[in-house]
Amino acid sequence: MIVLGIETSCDETAVGIVTDSVAGEARILANVVATQFTEHKPYGGVVPEIAARAHLDKIDDVLHEAFKQAGLQLSQMDAVAATCGPGLIGGVMVGAMTGKSLSAVAQKPFIAVNHLEAHALTVRLIYDVAFPYLLLLVSGGHSQLVLVEGVGNYRRLGTTLDDAVGECFDKSAKLLGLGYPGGPLLELAAQKGQAGSIPLPKPMVGREGCNFSFSGLKTAVRLAVENAPKPLAPLFVANMCASLQSTIAQILAERTLHAFAMLEEEGKHVSALVVGGGVAANQSIRGGLTQAAGKYGVPFLAPPVPLCTDNGVMIAWAGLERFCLGLKDDLTVRARPRWPLDTLDVDREAL
Ligand code: KG4
Ligand code: ZN
Repeated sequence: MIVLGIETSCDETAVGIVTDSVAGEARILANVVATQFTEHKPYGGVVPEIAARAHLDKIDDVLHEAFKQAGLQLSQMDAVAATCGPGLIGGVMVGAMTGKSLSAVAQKPFIAVNHLEAHALTVRLIYDVAFPYLLLLVSGGHSQLVLVEGVGNYRRLGTTLDDAVGECFDKSAKLLGLGYPGGPLLELAAQKGQAGSIPLPKPMVGREGCNFSFSGLKTAVRLAVENAPKPLAPLFVANMCASLQSTIAQILAERTLHAFAMLEEEGKHVSALVVGGGVAANQSIRGGLTQAAGKYGVPFLAPPVPLCTDNGVMIAWAGLERFCLGLKDDLTVRARPRWPLDTLDVDREAL
């Protein structure tokens, strides 16, 4: 089976081609990602209208490059998958329309992929991990703890009450003058600072359940920055980055432990703790999660960093997983800005 995947829901125009005839990373036949870094940099964040136009400009070249990398043609694909939500609607429409057009022209089945489901399933491309597993999904738009019980079968155990964790990284990086994209720059700057040198709150820690809240943390960073002498001293910036990163890592680990405890109370055993989404690229966060998984005696599994941030491979893989189960979609399926994971297939029928 060979599946093409198209991702355009945020600021990466990406196409991947995957197969299930081999194991592990060899399954990736093509992985092309065109970032819109230069387009959004002057604004310090993603501008939806600019993103949509940039996807339109880039998608043809990215597709050609992917076919070239794989040494394959559209006619050799068994199915075409594209992100149909959730995400910035202009961009999602570009990818969904492209995917549907390719599917119609080549007479191949179309699979509408939920972006969050793709993050949730990426780990299975790399590792032989069985359902159910506990997933911490941490990206620019989402912070969720999810019980992954099967393809299309997700139970959301906790979510953020306000900002996503990636947003907290990005906005704090902007306040500290680090620029865009904030997460990776903040991780880099943190290397020169000391964790815990600036006290920060840990919202929701110690509370029941496993919901998150990050807006208070962002406000604490803003107040500290406002009160610090200007221009900001490099040491202050480094210490703030290290303190923020370690605080976030502790919050994520603590909330994950609560999820484990909730599942244990139910008598539900999971095969692994899995992390997905762009923030999962952060090494300090990975460290905290490794310990949390160790406490419950399950392996901690993280896809390689380039597969944690948005890419086309994850869409192709989720498409392949669905297609193998006989799941495909009609070309009337619509692009949607919101598409919660836990009602995925109920919603799909209503599209
Ligand atoms: O999954 P993703 O590529 O796009 C969304 O679906 O949102 O995640 C992007 C987010 C951004 O907020 C970015 O700053 C964050 O992931 N990120 C990181 C790191 N690399 C990317 N956050 C912390 N540390 C990193 N190394
Ligand atoms: Zn994402």
